[in-house]
Amino acid sequence: MEFFIDSADTKAIRELCSYLPIDGVTTNPSIITKSGKEPAQVFDELCELLSEDQKIFAQVIAGDYEGILSEAEQIARIRAGKNVIVKIPVTHEGLRAIPAVKEKGIAVLATGIYSPDQAFWAAKAGADYLAPYVNRMCSYGDGVAQVVELVQTLAQYGLEAKICAASFKNVDQVHRLLAAGVPAITAPPEVIRGMVDHPGTAFAVDEFTNNWRTAYGRDVL
Ligand code: E4P
Repeated sequence: MEFFIDSADTKAIRELCSYLPIDGVTTNPSIITKSGKEPAQVFDELCELLSEDQKIFAQVIAGDYEGILSEAEQIARIRAGKNVIVKIPVTHEGLRAIPAVKEKGIAVLATGIYSPDQAFWAAKAGADYLAPYVNRMCSYGDGVAQVVELVQTLAQYGLEAKICAASFKNVDQVHRLLAAGVPAITAPPEVIRGMVDHPGTAFAVDEFTNNWRTAYGRDVL
């Protein structure tokens, strides 16, 4: 199972990577612009921050077939392509470009997925990862249930694409997909923190320490 951070906030990425076994970072054009930095700087910083075993996902901006191919090659030069995955939206041109990009030996994540049917076609086109936008899908129905169903559909047809569920707004959405066995998830820092931090844990730890201190007059074993 892979768990990625959906962000270009290097401070948050550094913090989360310091205590969690994070598998990489996913970005999209909006995430990059939000950083207030030039894209090249963002990717330089990510390369410095992450080990080569941690994946970096970067999205093409061009919407036409030729442009997608050319930008995919450009992205694949980041860190000499080592664990770099190109994100391609599931438009007509995107779906046409996916097999061509794959033929060049470049890994692809099909993005902007709002329905299991779009995901199916991207899987059939040869994408390595599929990113259904769970929270956005919830505007049109039960996004979580549709992604759970997609797990079954892919297995049923032996399609090898890996679901990388994306666009999360709360911990419950992530929890339900983890329980359903989704093979990869990308979530923003605040949702990941929400999965880990619980006021009850802090309360319990304080209680243990206070009882220990009262009994033995020290805070160590
Ligand atoms: C991932 O591929 C997407 O870029 C991202 O998760 C979209 O998230 P949003 O709905 O919060 O923009």
